[in-house]
Amino acid sequence: APLEEVDLPLFFGWFLLSSVQEKVRCTSMDFLKTLDTLEAFKKHLVDFTGKAENEVDLEQYFKPTGALHCTTKFCNYGKAEGAKEYAENPAVRALYGSAFELSLTALFVTPRTVGARVSLTDEQLKLWPADAEQSSAASLPPGSRAHITLGCAEGVEPVQTGVDLLEILALQQDGQQGEPAEEMELGSLTYYGEGRWLLNLREPIGAPACFSSFYG
Ligand code: A2P
Repeated sequence: APLEEVDLPLFFGWFLLSSVQEKVRCTSMDFLKTLDTLEAFKKHLVDFTGKAENEVDLEQYFKPTGALHCTTKFCNYGKAEGAKEYAENPAVRALYGSAFELSLTALFVTPRTVGARVSLTDEQLKLWPADAEQSSAASLPPGSRAHITLGCAEGVEPVQTGVDLLEILALQQDGQQGEPAEEMELGSLTYYGEGRWLLNLREPIGAPACFSSFYG
């Protein structure tokens, strides 16, 4: 049915094909498995445990969050601001159901979430809502928030992942280089304080994905 005849979805986004979901999950698990063994990470362990525990198992710490996707517009069935306008955007209508290739360029971890940063192409940016970066105090370029939630700590909602990414990018924009922590096989790891870690991938992961929506 045409979009105007049905309720608006919970959200629009790019949904990773199942074969690549597995690959991304494996990469993220490998990263978490290595991260919690690094001396640099252990030095800041209190960020995660809040007390003087000497280990944390990050693979257990983060709970998986369902099918991997990169949200473009959270519509909340039409209740979110700008939802109807987004669904009526000609680019959204024209590209609905089309295949894309997302480029995952970094992985990040905070005491709340683990996610992958997505670097959008100009064509992909046509599907990006103008208000996505508004929650950040910094003025970050459109697309900055684009990410895939890979896991959340107990009691944390997936919406937090984008907030965590924007926070790291705001620090970078503010001139904070972070503390280079380790050269890993996957790329270089930087610490931004308060439990915030960013791994810039040596080789971006290309992820085929379908632009569609989720009703739940
Ligand atoms: P994310 O895109 O970071 O993974 P929920 O299950 O909590 O209803 O969320 C469904 C999806 O919509 C998730 O992917 C989630 O976060 C995203 N989401 C939820 N709330 C918002 C919001 N206020 N703004 C942007 N994205 C949201």
